[in-house]
Amino acid sequence: MTAKIPESRASAMWGGRFEGGPSAIMQRINASIDFDRRLYAQDIRGSKAHCRMLVRQGVIGHDDGAAILSGLDAVLQEIESGTFVFRHDLEDIHMNVEARLAELVGAAAGRLHTARSRNDQVATDFRLWVRDAMDGMDGALKDLQAALLDRAEQHAATVMPGFTHLQAAQPVTFGHHLMAYVEMVGRDRGRLADARRRLNECPLGAAALAGTSFPIDRHETAAELGFDRPCGNSLDAVSDRDFALEFLAACAICAVHLSRLAEELVVWTSAQFRFVKLSDAFTTGSSIMPQKRNPDAAELVRAKAGRTIGDLNALLVVMKGLPLAYSKDMQDDKEPVFEATDTMELCIAAMAGMIRDLEVDAERMRAAAGAGFATATDIADWLVRVLGMPFRQAHHVTGRIVRMAEDRGCGLEDLTLADLRSVEPSITREVFDVLGVERSVASRTSFGGTAPDTVRAAIQAARQRWLVT
Ligand code: ARG
Repeated sequence: MTAKIPESRASAMWGGRFEGGPSAIMQRINASIDFDRRLYAQDIRGSKAHCRMLVRQGVIGHDDGAAILSGLDAVLQEIESGTFVFRHDLEDIHMNVEARLAELVGAAAGRLHTARSRNDQVATDFRLWVRDAMDGMDGALKDLQAALLDRAEQHAATVMPGFTHLQAAQPVTFGHHLMAYVEMVGRDRGRLADARRRLNECPLGAAALAGTSFPIDRHETAAELGFDRPCGNSLDAVSDRDFALEFLAACAICAVHLSRLAEELVVWTSAQFRFVKLSDAFTTGSSIMPQKRNPDAAELVRAKAGRTIGDLNALLVVMKGLPLAYSKDMQDDKEPVFEATDTMELCIAAMAGMIRDLEVDAERMRAAAGAGFATATDIADWLVRVLGMPFRQAHHVTGRIVRMAEDRGCGLEDLTLADLRSVEPSITREVFDVLGVERSVASRTSFGGTAPDTVRAAIQAARQRWLVT
């Protein structure tokens, strides 16, 4: 048996019943090699596992198996050293690898595709690829958490305004604010881990759609490729891409988190806020306005969430309404996943870099925290706690005190005891204890609250939970 290219222009891989070859346009729309070449390592790994199993099961001979395995290693080496010639007429990574294998080892190569199809092959390759992408992204997010935790620790007691409606609401600490993102990123990692568990079943051996009559051992190939088990249904194995969708959904949600932090950096670096300054490494200048330092990296992280959300949408729409089992539509599953992976990698790294380099203007933050009657809630709480007033009444009394300060154009702490007593006669001097922003944050010791010691405890717990593996 020889691996001979047929006389006609038809495909060497599937052209047995074809006379003519595909038109140039057909080749262009059909070929995926320009992007699915990124699956080469997974493709070869999957083929080696399949080959070993075929030998062990007696489906192909030892010599053929050995020739295939060493040939696949040679192909891998060629691809990694850049000498491999990718051919469009061979459509995709699977046929490019197999055709080169045939050139290298001859007839034995033709036995590799026994008891499998490109349908289970690509589903296996892609699961392996997405699993690696999940692991890579998890590592990057862990690094981002480490950056956030370090900065949170430095600023566990740095007072800043906390906002609702982007209006100063109550003072918080900058460390507490950063820790909010440690939580978000932790859930992003959790989503990846959840999706990874469901992804981790092996399609190999499902063959084209119905399974195979050869005595294969799917449990063996699944284990060799690091899967927990083989997929339980051959039709499902080759035709669902929910593992890619779950990955993209996790990416999209993470991108939304990053974009919110990016937006805050954009706002905080503005001349009107000046809470933080980005390092030169993560800032650009304007070509005509010398005074400007633009937060381009943050803006681009904010923008690129759009792409990642688009990638999720793209694949959802590709998959919607496809009948079982495989359809060629599914070849279009890869580009959105590749794009989202690359985009996320860049955005997570950029965010970690910005956070690590960030210069914090604690003075500005503190001044802003004191403005806007941010400790009004503390007065109301004091009236409840010390005078035993019902909260609704305390809220009303405090509102009148705020109005008095507003009328006078001063802060709450600038009012005299007499001023306060003119509103509520039973107020005592002790109320001044809660008027300062430091005291305000220090009093919020409830679990998950903003008191510096509470934040420090949260940082310690988060380090244990997220950074110790
Ligand atoms: N390049 C194809 C893909 O990515 C491989 C599977 C082709 N299967 C087929 N029946 N034509 O989906």
